[in-house]
Amino acid sequence: MSNIAIDGPAGAGKSTIAKIVSKKLGFIYIDTGAMYRAMAVHMTRNGVSADNAEDIEKNVDTADISIGHENGEQVVYLNGENVNAFLRTEEVSAMASKTSANGKVRAKLVELQQKQAKTCDVVMDGRDIGTVVLPDAELKVYLTASSRVRAERRYKELTLRGENCNLDEIEADIKERDHRDMTREISPLKKADDAVEIDSSYMTIDEVADKIIELYNSRK
Ligand code: DC
Repeated sequence: MSNIAIDGPAGAGKSTIAKIVSKKLGFIYIDTGAMYRAMAVHMTRNGVSADNAEDIEKNVDTADISIGHENGEQVVYLNGENVNAFLRTEEVSAMASKTSANGKVRAKLVELQQKQAKTCDVVMDGRDIGTVVLPDAELKVYLTASSRVRAERRYKELTLRGENCNLDEIEADIKERDHRDMTREISPLKKADDAVEIDSSYMTIDEVADKIIELYNSRK
């Protein structure tokens, strides 16, 4: 099976790019962040405190998370329920950022991700794909963009949806999340030694996608 790993901080464009690349190559796209988000939904529903490791660990085993694809879109099931509609709130983002630092949460989801990558060609995006989940991936990309550019992208997205927001607050939030993802003890976000770094700050989506496909084809 062929695997492409894309890691990087929130807002660098990983999922948008990974979707385009997977479509062009005929691979399945796997968004691992959505799995951590589904786990966060489970924790929130069970009233777990994000700072209580024991409480988090007690609730991991009752979360049966699986992935399916409907009309080309990834669907995440939590105990049989399609939870896609609940994954993108600020509350879930904050909970996922904290609970994803837990070793028991990670062990469960990494196992699921590795199983998926063995059964089909995948473009998988996340934080630890090149370093932990798929260390033998054919191509590893570390996709970055400056925190300001990432905040501006998020600001545009929210304003288009009619939400009231503040650019500086969004940037501060992004920086805080980066810090947590990069400094956590288990599987922190970092560039794998053999990953190609792409800074998307001043590139279009298509330019980044084309670059990744070119890199992949040059390694086949
Ligand atoms: O990519 P995202 O924003 O949907 O990810 C949600 C959270 O899950 C984020 O705080 C980082 C974490 N995550 C992780 O620790 N490892 C991954 N492979 C994917 C996401």
